[in-house]
Amino acid sequence: MTTATVEPASALKGSIILPGDKSISHRAVIFAALGEGEARLENLLEGEDVLATVDCFRAMGVSIEKSGDEWIVQGVGLKGLRPPRKVLYCGNSGTTLRLLLGILAAQDFETSLTGDASLNRRPMKRVMEPLSQMGARFRVEGEGSPQRTIHVKGGALRGIDYLSPVASAQVKSALLLAGLWAKGKTSVLEPALSRDHTERMLEGFGVPLERTGLRVSVPPVAKLSLQGTFRVPGDFSSAAFFMVAGTLVSGSQVLLQGLGLNPTRTGALDVLRDMGAQVQVKGLKREGGEEVGDLLVLSASLKAKPIGGTIIPRLIDEIPILAVAAALAEGKTEIRDAAELRVKESDRIRVLAELLGRIGVSVTERPDGLEIEGGSVLRSATVDSRGDHRMAMSMAVAALKAQGPLTIQDVDCVKTSFPSFWELLTRLGARVRIS
Ligand code: S3P
Repeated sequence: MTTATVEPASALKGSIILPGDKSISHRAVIFAALGEGEARLENLLEGEDVLATVDCFRAMGVSIEKSGDEWIVQGVGLKGLRPPRKVLYCGNSGTTLRLLLGILAAQDFETSLTGDASLNRRPMKRVMEPLSQMGARFRVEGEGSPQRTIHVKGGALRGIDYLSPVASAQVKSALLLAGLWAKGKTSVLEPALSRDHTERMLEGFGVPLERTGLRVSVPPVAKLSLQGTFRVPGDFSSAAFFMVAGTLVSGSQVLLQGLGLNPTRTGALDVLRDMGAQVQVKGLKREGGEEVGDLLVLSASLKAKPIGGTIIPRLIDEIPILAVAAALAEGKTEIRDAAELRVKESDRIRVLAELLGRIGVSVTERPDGLEIEGGSVLRSATVDSRGDHRMAMSMAVAALKAQGPLTIQDVDCVKTSFPSFWELLTRLGARVRIS
């Protein structure tokens, strides 16, 4: 098991280009695979999660090869997927499993899917129930066990108008993808707007989506045409670790280049600025249907602000790193309406409470969030990431402000979303030892 020891830092300086956005990378592979003809993907995230999606499509007969810096996908069209000869392995990736369930619900063959112990514990009924209403059939083996396997028998689907109880882009995307093959219109109404990359890509590829308020509807289509080159913007969620690090470590000046700045993703930027962070957006433009720009981060002191309500889906993956910012801000931070955190790669409410507590932060766990006392003095300690990439990286940032080195156990998981994290952190001046 790999361990990282991170030393306190004096100032972080430099400019870095972030690897491709994880959510957009999955979708780029999916749409290229289901499209007609050859698509070339640039800046695709080569994290384990996205590579799991790549492997699943290869197993269904799609040619996906790397050539230089590009990934070349030979689309097989909406009718071209072949039954895989093995159980599809989704690793740690909820996006792979949930989006694939949507696609496979519409294929007239049976497929079996599984993942690692963390993924096999995560809730899948949220997609299986509405997909069953559309006509797909599921059988689950080993529910509640680390070996769960889901068998899906797809076929003729009918569109539904689904009121989703959760603001989840994975649920929404699974249904919209299934809707491409369904009879009639498929609609999803979510309680708050979750990331809308699927919608933007569908629109970009000529699918006449209807978006009214929080309801999005997709008609069945005959084909998708992602051809030519598609560039994946840098991952805002990965950048958030450096945004907080640059803010907290005094004397820092960090430029984060080429980031996706889709407003459904940038809630953490709004919160940090509200707390007093000095982050400037530079060179904002639109590329491939997404806002892209650079962020210049200067160190600043922070004041606690409440985090809750409809902003939660816009910063759901950034709560672990925002919790570190909160521990060092002035005043008490209340995080509410974030019960979804309990069903992420780990129970992030419980694990955050434990890990922050271990490094000296006074924190109270709530059913749907946390209360975090600011102004903490962070202790040198050894903490366990619990196999959760965002927990490992959040603790690495906390270490930069601790009184002594922080040892983080089980950091292999960082490779799921951000394999170059340690290298980039070191490039900005941090001292990291991996053993
Ligand atoms: C993702 C959606 C979010 C997010 C996850 C990636 C996506 O999950 O937490 O990291 O790519 O659609 P939910 O949609 O389940 O909230």
